[in-house]
Amino acid sequence: MSKILVTGGAGFIGSHTCVELLDAGYDIVVLDNFSNSKPEALNRIKKITGKDFKFYEADLLNLPEVEKVFEENDISAVIHFAGLKAVGESVAKPVEYYHNNITGTLMLIQAMRKHNCKKIVFSSSATVYGVDNPVPYVETMPTNTSTNPYGYTKVMIEQILKDVYVSDNDWSIVLLRYFNPIGAHKSGLIGEDPNGIPNNLFPYIAQVATGKLKELGVFGDDYDTPDGTGVRDYIHVVDLATGHLNALNYALKNKGVEAVNLGTGKGSSVFDVLHAFEKACGRELPYKIKPRRPGDIATCYADTTKAKEVLGWEAQYQLDEMAADGWNFTKNNPNGL
Ligand code: NAD
Ligand code: UD1
Repeated sequence: MSKILVTGGAGFIGSHTCVELLDAGYDIVVLDNFSNSKPEALNRIKKITGKDFKFYEADLLNLPEVEKVFEENDISAVIHFAGLKAVGESVAKPVEYYHNNITGTLMLIQAMRKHNCKKIVFSSSATVYGVDNPVPYVETMPTNTSTNPYGYTKVMIEQILKDVYVSDNDWSIVLLRYFNPIGAHKSGLIGEDPNGIPNNLFPYIAQVATGKLKELGVFGDDYDTPDGTGVRDYIHVVDLATGHLNALNYALKNKGVEAVNLGTGKGSSVFDVLHAFEKACGRELPYKIKPRRPGDIATCYADTTKAKEVLGWEAQYQLDEMAADGWNFTKNNPNGL
C-alpha cells in the first residue's frame, strides 16, 4: 500500500496532522531529526490513534538518508513540515536557517523526483504576505518580501516549488499559508512543547499560567486596533491538521500549484487571547505593557474563501476552545513531553 511521508512529523503541527492522517486511514511514514521535538511525541500519536507507523530518525540535509526512506517505502505524497521556525533565532543565525530550510527542501525534492513522487503539501506561513499588504490577506497578493531570514525561507521555498511545477507539469503542489496555530489535541497528550523561553504569545501565556514565567509582556497597546494590542488570526492546531488532510486529498487528485491560506478569517487581540486563557485556567494572569516588538504589524488575518472553494475546508474551533485545549495540554505536561 502506498504511504504518505510526513517530514517533521514529531513537531507541533506535524504530530497533530499524523493523528488526523492515521484516523482517516492513511498509512504514514514519519521522518524527523528531533532538532526541535522529542521521540515521546511519536508514542503519544500511537496512543491517541491506537495505530503504528514507520519512523526514520533522519536529517533532510543528508540526501542518502532521505533517499533510503523512498527506497524502502512506496511514497505517494509528502507533507513537508520539517524546518526551523524561530524568527529571532533566524536573524542571529541566517546561514543555518537558509541551509536547513532551503537545502533540506531541495534534498527532499531531489529524492522525490528520483522516485517519481510528485505530490507535496508544504508548510508555508502568513509571514510571506510581508508588511505592505492590506488585510485580509488574499492568496493573489504579492509575497516577495519578508522582514527576517525565516520568512525569506518560506518566500524562497514557495518560489522553488512553483519553478519545479513550471519545469514538470506532472507535479501537484499545495502551499499552505498558516496563520497563528495554537491549542492542542483534546486528549491533552500532544501540544506545543517549545524549547526555552517561548517567543510566541500563546505558549508564553501558558508558562505564565503554570508560574514558570512571572508575567506576560504585552508588546504595544497603541496600535490602530480595537483595544490597541496586536491582532492575529489564531487557529486551533487540530483545524490546521484537518486542513492538511483536505490539502492532501486535493493533491492526490489534481495537478498544479496552489497557495491556500489556513486561518479562521477572524482577528483576536493580545488581550482577547489573554482573557480566553484566563477563562480556561480559572484565574487572572499578570501582564505588563511593553514597547512594540520590532517587525510586528498591527493586524493580520486571512481571507478564507479559497480554502473553502478549493479544499472544501473551514476552521471549526473558536478562541475559547483553543485556550481550553492548550491549557489542558500544559496542565497535564508542565515540563513538556
Ligand atoms: P516544530 O519545530 O514543532 O516542528 C518542526 C519539526 O521539524 C521538528 O520536529 C524538527 O525536529 C523537525 N526538523 C527541523 N529541521 C529538520 C531537518 N533538517 N531534518 C529533519 N527534521 C527536521 O514546528 P511546527 O510549529 O510544527 O511547524 C511546522 C512547520 O510549519 C514549519 O515548517 C514551520 O516553519 C511552519 N509554520 C509554523 C507556524 C507556527 O506558528 N507554528 C506558522 C507558520 C508556519
Ligand atoms: C510570529 C512571527 C511570524 C511567524 C508566527 C508564527 C515575529 C515578528 N513574527 O508572528 O513570522 O510566522 O509568529 O510562528 O516574530 N505578543 C505579545 N507578547 C509576547 C508575544 C507576543 O504581546 O510575549 C504579541 C505580538 O506583538 C503579536 C501577538 O502577540 O501582536 C502574536 O505574536 P506571536 O505569537 O509572536 O505571533 P506573530 O507576531 O503573528
